[in-house]
Amino acid sequence: EDFSGRGVWRYADALPLSEGVTTQEGATPLYEVPRLEADVGVEALRIKHEGMNPTGSFKDRGMTVGVAVARELGVGRLACASTGNTSAALAAYGSRGGMETLVLLPAGKVAAGKVGQAALHDARILEVDGNFDACLDIVRELAERGEAYLLNSLNPFRLEGQKTIGLEILEGFRDDYGAFPDRIVLPVGNAGNTAALYKAFRELVQAGAVEEREVPKLTGVQAEGAAPMVEAVENGADEVRRWEEVETRATAIRIGNPVNAPKALPGIRETGGTAIAVSDDEITEAQRDLAAEGIGVEPASAASVAGLRKLRAAGIVADDERVACLTTGHLLKDPDAAAAAGNEPEPVPADTGGILAHLEGRNSS
Ligand code: F0G
Repeated sequence: EDFSGRGVWRYADALPLSEGVTTQEGATPLYEVPRLEADVGVEALRIKHEGMNPTGSFKDRGMTVGVAVARELGVGRLACASTGNTSAALAAYGSRGGMETLVLLPAGKVAAGKVGQAALHDARILEVDGNFDACLDIVRELAERGEAYLLNSLNPFRLEGQKTIGLEILEGFRDDYGAFPDRIVLPVGNAGNTAALYKAFRELVQAGAVEEREVPKLTGVQAEGAAPMVEAVENGADEVRRWEEVETRATAIRIGNPVNAPKALPGIRETGGTAIAVSDDEITEAQRDLAAEGIGVEPASAASVAGLRKLRAAGIVADDERVACLTTGHLLKDPDAAAAAGNEPEPVPADTGGILAHLEGRNSS
């Protein structure tokens, strides 16, 4: 069908194909959050909510391009390693493109909504007794042996699609404020988005559409228990040391070997950005902050807001900055985390009198 010229495909000039395997991805909201903006204390704060994509995460932008390229190449089986969202998107886009999909997931460490998506969209789901990084090592080997076409963010066509996040943020801010944001804060796992946004901005500078000094400072946030990129940025290192042991409530970014680091580290450095680690409790607190503005995100997404708060408190982010926080996945991806972070359901009797008594704090029984 004709989805050309909309969402991700509005930017076809910046993409390697003119049309994709599409379920109408992109064109996500850029929300105002007045209370949170005042509370954090910046000139402007907007939330680019990528959870509003068809499968509930930014991965759709990469898959609409990547799966279309795979179809063009006539490959057989598509495969990815995933902390969940990539597998959900690959399963959906693979099905739409009429291709077989194989996903490798770290057993017991993927949020319920994501496994459900991969299952219903007909992926073969391999639950691996190992973490995400081990899964990715295996998928790379399968691809090298010609057994599958790899659709992790190591695939450059994925990143081409994800560039459009950056393009939409710039356009959104220009329309609302007459200027681009000073900073984009984003959660980092494999650092694909960091690399993709940097590539998008470099291409705009090279085309003369944006001045070098207008490029937003790319600011990455990781969970304390999985922060190899933060370690590298803090040490001024050119390479990232792989963490073998990783743990965080934000399972989407439970990653110890960010494979796009060689592309992402220069992006953080050259734009004058930085990277910071946040605790799981800070992540949950930020999830509640966003929820209080009506925006439902999964834990990894809230890391961006948690990181911004911390950088603002440390004076690294100034009070006159215009900031975009990227929220990468929808609340419903991880219903267990949402339930744990929110209110407890209250058991009540099935009658109005009993409920009124309960609401008034009296025990009816
Ligand atoms: N946020 C969410 C919700 C994610 O699912 C991911 C990555 C990231 C952030 C990190 O993005 O890799 O571009 O730095 N999820 C992958 C997956 C690993 O398998 O779904 P990145």
